[in-house]
Amino acid sequence: MIFDKKLIPKNVQEYNELYNYSITKPESFWSEVAESFIWKKKWSKVLKYDFNKPKFEWFCNGKLNITENCLDRHVKNNPEKTAIIFEPNKPDDQTVHISYKELHAKVCSFANVLKNNNVKKGDRVCIYLPMVPELAVAVLACARIGAVHSVVFAGFSSTALAARINDASCKMVLTSDGSFRGNKTIDLKSIVDEALNDCDCVDSVIVLNIINSGITLKNNEKWWHEELNNVNDDCRAEIMDSEDPLFILYTSGSTGKPKGMVHSCGGYMVYSSYTFKNVFDYEDDDIYWCTADIGWITGHSYIVYGPLLNGATTLMFEGVPSYPDFGRFWQICEKHKVNQFYTAPTAIRALAKHPVQLVNKYDLSSLKVLGTVGEPINEEAWDWYNENVGKAKCPIVDTWWQTETGGIMITSLANVTDGKPTFATKPMMGIQPVLFDENAKELDDNNKNGILGIKYPWPSIARTIYGDHKRYKNVYFSAYPGYYFPGDGAFRDDEGNYRITGRVDDVVIVSGHNLGTAPIEDAINMHDNVVESALVGFPHDVKGNALYAFVILKDDNTSNDIVKEINDLIAKTIGPIAKPDKIQVVSGLPKTRSGKIMRRILRKIASGEKEKFGDISTLLNPEVVKSILDGKI
Ligand code: PRX
Repeated sequence: MIFDKKLIPKNVQEYNELYNYSITKPESFWSEVAESFIWKKKWSKVLKYDFNKPKFEWFCNGKLNITENCLDRHVKNNPEKTAIIFEPNKPDDQTVHISYKELHAKVCSFANVLKNNNVKKGDRVCIYLPMVPELAVAVLACARIGAVHSVVFAGFSSTALAARINDASCKMVLTSDGSFRGNKTIDLKSIVDEALNDCDCVDSVIVLNIINSGITLKNNEKWWHEELNNVNDDCRAEIMDSEDPLFILYTSGSTGKPKGMVHSCGGYMVYSSYTFKNVFDYEDDDIYWCTADIGWITGHSYIVYGPLLNGATTLMFEGVPSYPDFGRFWQICEKHKVNQFYTAPTAIRALAKHPVQLVNKYDLSSLKVLGTVGEPINEEAWDWYNENVGKAKCPIVDTWWQTETGGIMITSLANVTDGKPTFATKPMMGIQPVLFDENAKELDDNNKNGILGIKYPWPSIARTIYGDHKRYKNVYFSAYPGYYFPGDGAFRDDEGNYRITGRVDDVVIVSGHNLGTAPIEDAINMHDNVVESALVGFPHDVKGNALYAFVILKDDNTSNDIVKEINDLIAKTIGPIAKPDKIQVVSGLPKTRSGKIMRRILRKIASGEKEKFGDISTLLNPEVVKSILDGKI
């Protein structure tokens, strides 16, 4: 274990004591945690911050390289230990075990490939790859040489990819000829080709051969395996300042432009690893599996960095939960004797729709801890997970956090603090959540709903939005000056447990994916026949939320295929995950007198409400509500 025993609480009382210490003496506390790592030079001050600017600096003037902490130190102590288990898409294909020594060699070799291709410290590299070990290698190779990785989920469309490449002026793109997903093969390279038609900043592309598509590469493109022939596996780790950027990761916001959240080296290292150890109660020989994609923050923090920093064995799965059947997750748990299993409520709800025999036929006795992330988990899904997967003996950690927070913020700690169905429960050490009432006053009482805020900085708070610090300030620090505003509502019970009640802005969480309504509306509005549109979320029994689009057309007789055309546009502009479940053509949208769309009313209509809309007399056009209800699909 990399942490001193006194930093790892073993029971509720120890948690309470450590938590109190962490919030009364945060600098001493985080300094002790940070001592657990290899620094090339120790920090001179633990924290400097200013909520007004806003600016946060952790472990100031400390020097490090995160990959030395992920790899070199474990190669020294335990070189043959498995770092990554790769489980391929098809169950019959070969599983791969990569030891710390092998991973170190792969990362150093690929870091040399990056250098050979003129990538330098501070350059941005876009990584658009499926869930294969080379994705983790690419991430770490960037970190090794101080290049800033920007991983884009390989389900995003060419337009979304191009927007992200351009926003960060990426110099290089790492991708593959294609990917395997269930019984499909996806042509990733064509998506990249299309995106690159709109990106002048990219000098070179390195292509991993996964599907043997036999494509021919262009002049500035090279095959991954051929590049590896030109390098050795010796690569010095670049010395990074604690505050140097480690990566950019995009998340949706309330306007059309995605937000490139920037995470820094030192604080992110300390927080992602410390939370991993505590939340999942990871012990040295455990096999840990998080089913997320490395294209999301969950994959960054809890497939790659958190586990590797702890010297853990982390499983990477290339495929999908439904292939070859809906028992695939459980078959993998049995095959690799998985101890900690971390997934999304959407996956649980989807799997719970299938016969429980698909779970019961596998031996899940290795499981010790279960986790969920990304959206609220409803009681039914929690019960199903607990009874059928955990056999009522595994603690379930419901972990609340965000791309912006870098690591888990509110959760129970497995085998230490109690879980409570549908509650994320208690704050992580060092985290000070508060609830605000409607007058932006901190709520002292329990048993209340409010808006969630965070009172004090923590090491992995995103430092800025790439290229737009003003937006960073506006979105996260303006609503409640002196606090971080995550955009979620919450309820606090008598024992101080938090239940996250959902977004309070125009972001909808669909199947655990954070989707801003604005960019999807922008995509819909690109259709020649669309005058205006409004998109809202409504409850869905598997996805948590689904999208409902209300669309005003110029001419409702011109096209019979408007629904398909709009869906195609959304898939092309953002990706298939953003397609609405329902698209209703309407004659008008309910608006305030100042012209603002009353989404509250549309949300109610979308979720099946027929009568209770409150006072709609203040609307500019109250009659439109009835007409929308009459045409509801
Ligand atoms: O609304 C919250 C929801 O997901 C949002 C963050 O999304 P993203 O940045 O994509 O990161 C997802 C993975 C960390 C939050 O603002 N959310 C996340 N976890 C939970 C949750 N809602 C309820 N319960 C959770 N455990």
